[in-house]
Amino acid sequence: MHTYGTGRVNKEGHLEIGGVDVVSLAEHYGTPLYIYDVALIRQRARGFKDTFEKLGVTAQVAYASKAFSAIGMIQLAEQEGLSLDVVSGGELYTAIKAGFPAERIHFHGNNKSREELAMALEQRIGCIVVDNFYELELLQSLCDEQGEEINILLRVTPGIEAHTHDYILTGQEDSKFGFDLNNGQAEEALQKAMGMKGVKLLGVHCHIGSQIFETTGFTLAADKIIQKLFEWKGRFQFESEVLNLGGGFGIRYTEEDEPLAPSEYVEEIIKEVQVKTKEFGLAMPEIWIEPGRSLVGDAGTTLYRTGSEKYVPEVRKYLAIDGGMNDNIRPALYDAKYEAVLANRVNDPVEETVSIAGKCCESGDMLIWDLPLPKASHGDLLAVFCTGAYGYSMANNYNRIPRPPVVFVENGQAELVVRRESYDDLVKLDLPLNVTVRQ
Ligand code: LLP
Repeated sequence: MHTYGTGRVNKEGHLEIGGVDVVSLAEHYGTPLYIYDVALIRQRARGFKDTFEKLGVTAQVAYASKAFSAIGMIQLAEQEGLSLDVVSGGELYTAIKAGFPAERIHFHGNNKSREELAMALEQRIGCIVVDNFYELELLQSLCDEQGEEINILLRVTPGIEAHTHDYILTGQEDSKFGFDLNNGQAEEALQKAMGMKGVKLLGVHCHIGSQIFETTGFTLAADKIIQKLFEWKGRFQFESEVLNLGGGFGIRYTEEDEPLAPSEYVEEIIKEVQVKTKEFGLAMPEIWIEPGRSLVGDAGTTLYRTGSEKYVPEVRKYLAIDGGMNDNIRPALYDAKYEAVLANRVNDPVEETVSIAGKCCESGDMLIWDLPLPKASHGDLLAVFCTGAYGYSMANNYNRIPRPPVVFVENGQAELVVRRESYDDLVKLDLPLNVTVRQ
């Protein structure tokens, strides 16, 4: 078993996380259950932050809360001195409810509504990452109306797309996000933004992809942007105080994944920005990054109870669990791969290969194909690792299945941060039909 963070096997042969036996967590909170290893989240956060500090670079490490947004999680991000990236009124509202300092909130999105932008201005958040011309117009009219001032970054698409081991270079990026850096759109946006009253343009932002294992995509993006910043200094006397290089740092889901440590990504990025800005005679900007998955992904484990089985002779054995695509849609949506163990019998020898089926009425609701396990029967506990990012945040109520609770574990203590949804919660938005059938 590959162990993450504080994960270990105790003398009963049970999986233990944060010093807490997960068998006792299942008994206390029921299953399915999301468990977060708080010490591992802190370790990852410090891995990013300390590297900037060690190298004396002014930075903001913003937690991309789309990976997992809940009040307790936002408060943990605050404890660790992170900034926060939100992408909707709902994520912004959660951050405010959590008491997160507004000046460290950055607001993203390719179609922010007038109401969402107004809320951001009212809350005086740290920065809006402007995505398009429509948003620039909305912002101008809101600043005029509300008499507010706001910091912005311009999101640019540098023509670099990165996924895991590959990156693609294109003259123009076919993406719904941001101002194209290669066809004049970014210059047009820059000139508009520089002329806006109440708007302070701090710099530029880009995000090149997700689950990236190499630094080349980031350093190429930095090169392209710095080259542009050099041009813009000459043409428009614009000097960027901030360079935000987004998120996308990869994590280990299975043994095929070989991510770098947070410090390694950060060191390479800093080195490149220092070298290139020096080469072009530009001042070193603040570097901002936005990790989501790499802060919370491998800190999350989902615990399920096993139930029915189906044997298809000479083909496979299906083992069903009490969750599935409701609490983890990633296998169905992205063909994502996970590892898992029987959490109540971790040391038992592997005896068979089973495929883990969810409980939704959908054939595609398969969590893991061909998983080697000890002989499992109903009532065992299955722990699926690395579900901390985009698990709870993409959970849904298909088949009217309530969403599981979230528990934080640290130093032998467990704390519920999201309670289990009830059947009453499921119907609370429904209204009875008032129209009667006309005879
Ligand atoms: N910044 C921006 C502008 C982003 O669009 C994203 C992710 C991040 C930061 C954080 O990226 P991360 O460090 O988490 O890779 N639902 C998908 C992932 C979608 C990512 C969208 N943007 C999944 O489950 O894999």
